[in-house]
Amino acid sequence: MHNILVTGADGQLGNELRNIALNYKKFNFIFTDVKNLDITNINDVELFFESHPIDYIINCAAYTAVDKAETNEDAANKINVIGVKNLVALSQKYSSKLVHISTDYVFDGTNFKPYVESDATNPVSVYGKTKLEAEKAIRSSAIEAIIIRTSWLYSSFGNNFVKTMIKLGTERDELNVIFDQVGTPTYAYDLAKTILDIINQSTENDSVFSQDIYHFSNHGVCSWYDFAKAIMELSKINCKINAIESKDYPTPATRPFYSVLNKSKIQNTFNILIPFWRDSLSQCIKKIMTVQNL
Ligand SMILES: NC(=O)c1ccc[n+]([C@@H]2O[C@H](COP(=O)([O-])OP(=O)(O)OC[C@H]3O[C@@H](n4cnc5c(N)ncnc54)[C@H](OP(=O)(O)O)[C@@H]3O)[C@@H](O)[C@H]2O)c1
Repeated sequence: MHNILVTGADGQLGNELRNIALNYKKFNFIFTDVKNLDITNINDVELFFESHPIDYIINCAAYTAVDKAETNEDAANKINVIGVKNLVALSQKYSSKLVHISTDYVFDGTNFKPYVESDATNPVSVYGKTKLEAEKAIRSSAIEAIIIRTSWLYSSFGNNFVKTMIKLGTERDELNVIFDQVGTPTYAYDLAKTILDIINQSTENDSVFSQDIYHFSNHGVCSWYDFAKAIMELSKINCKINAIESKDYPTPATRPFYSVLNKSKIQNTFNILIPFWRDSLSQCIKKIMTVQNL
């Protein structure tokens, strides 16, 4: 039996991991969130590791409020950088393997073709900067780790673009959504499954946790406008979506205009099947409709 600690388990990704954990019988999961394991508190983290033998950590804990981070840099830094450094220190001490989740926002979005892992980083937001700093802290340590960068995460759990669109779409006749930021949505269920499949493979192959970075999102490309249109269609909500430019929807944080990730490396290394974004969106919306009884 391998013990897996999931931090930030009450968020979108953590909940998806919780949801599929039963399918992975050779793992014993310990789900924690800030209320019982605050990753920024080194004493708490230390005490936790002293009393729980941990083989793997999946770090889902993060400060993910991209706009708020612009004026709450200390809080974003504390969770996204100091918290990760604490996990690195304890991974080092107890030889635990770390799966860390990072973001497409480490890039500046000036690419014209999907980002590969070796492309130059240049975050344009505080959130992106803190996530990049955490990547560097992991890669400059000697621990066994992998970093998975993902983008536009959504789930039937927590708050996200899909649930916001469904809510607003039922309340309003039309919505303005930007069409000049392009990326790929990621169903957190697909990411959760990928993480556990990789850990599963690592139990038979020691070389998996070699500090590599991998990109994972669903397949395909869309703008937020296309994403919103698909959400309305798949959830059968009659709400007109108007395409607007980013300059007409100013936000505190600058976001990359283009953040499509190239998934070839993760796909080829781990033989992973990645669903098309619209197919996964359809699955998620069915689940949201069932849960909300719509
Ligand atoms: N969401 C996206 O679009 C997106 C895109 C790319 C990458 N990512 C990355 O993917 C990962 C998972 O994202 P997500 O959307 O699942 O995040 P999420 O829903 O915001 O969940 C993060 C969880 O971490 C918890 N947390 C905050 N501070 C903590 C602390 N000090 N100790 C322990 N837990 C703490 C949060 O609790 P509270 O809610 O109480 O703060 C929350 O339950 C993150 O690393 C994120 O940066 C996300």
